Amino acid sequence: MTLLGRSIPAPGVSAAPSATGRTKDLLAVSDLSGSQLFRLFRIARELKATPRPGPASQWLSGLTLGLLFEKPSTRTRVSFEAGMHQLGGQALFLPSDTIQLSRGESLADTALVLSRYLDGLVVRTFEQATLEEWARHATVPVINGLTDLCHPCQILADLFTIMEGKESFTEDAFQGFKLAYVGDGNNVANSLIEAGAKTGMHVAIACPPQYQPDPGIVERSREEAGRTGATIEIVHDPAAAAENADALYTDVWTSMGQEHEQAERLKAMVPYQLNEHLLRRAKPSAIVLHCLPAHRGEEITAAVLDGPQSVVLQQAENRLHVQKAILTEWLGRPWP
Ligand code: CP
Ligand code: NVA
Repeated sequence: MTLLGRSIPAPGVSAAPSATGRTKDLLAVSDLSGSQLFRLFRIARELKATPRPGPASQWLSGLTLGLLFEKPSTRTRVSFEAGMHQLGGQALFLPSDTIQLSRGESLADTALVLSRYLDGLVVRTFEQATLEEWARHATVPVINGLTDLCHPCQILADLFTIMEGKESFTEDAFQGFKLAYVGDGNNVANSLIEAGAKTGMHVAIACPPQYQPDPGIVERSREEAGRTGATIEIVHDPAAAAENADALYTDVWTSMGQEHEQAERLKAMVPYQLNEHLLRRAKPSAIVLHCLPAHRGEEITAAVLDGPQSVVLQQAENRLHVQKAILTEWLGRPWP
């Protein structure tokens, strides 16, 4: 296929590994091997400990990252923008309704033109297929800043947060670790399942039967779990999932783009609230995770979200450190 006089790689070609072994794009946790994932965590830990200004301050000097967002964002946008700035590069926020895309310019033309200006593009959109289209047409790396299907950058920061608590950065850090996710089987749940399978974790997901995680992701992750020693459990009883867990995780019951389903979702999800009662099922040392934004009194009580076991602010901060690691890898100047 040709566009604007140049040939476009066929679907999937853009995902070819680079010289460093990483895929061209980061569209899902499944784009990473286990060792690449732990390499990102090691870099994130080093960058987190590196003083500012310091040796990393010019690491991405002269490079520009675009952030093409079709949905609102606080953490993802600001942590990528601040991360680029802290590494000496620049970020451009491109809400989709402010560029010619909103007046009918094609995604392909936009991706090709932006690739002439930018060194990488973070895309937040609805369908995973749309993200894949960006990746196919852009000649620069495309990073998933959240789709309806998955939220890989979030989950990498979440696993990094768990590792920090364990103070063990070895590849067996998650063996025997039980993470229970309760609520909607959404993008966050899907990426948790993928990451859990890759790292040998025990992931227990409790959700209503009509709001289950993506069956394709569950199936592929269970195959991977067979190789890594992970367990992927999908149940409907939140108490069973939370039993003896090392971490409890929840997310909103109505994700961006599902607002019209809110009343129905609320009704189905009430038994899945992360509250003090559920927390007592987990280990006394269990941590509480939430990707934020949170709705206190819906998917989580204020007492749990703001309580002593909650690590949500550390988790939000770690978006910055892990994404800085991602940027050094994907923008072509790998941290040693
Ligand atoms: N957790 C997360 O992705 O937050 P934002 O929607 O604010 O980016
Ligand atoms: N599941 C949520 C995550 C927000 C960070 C959503 O997609 O809206």
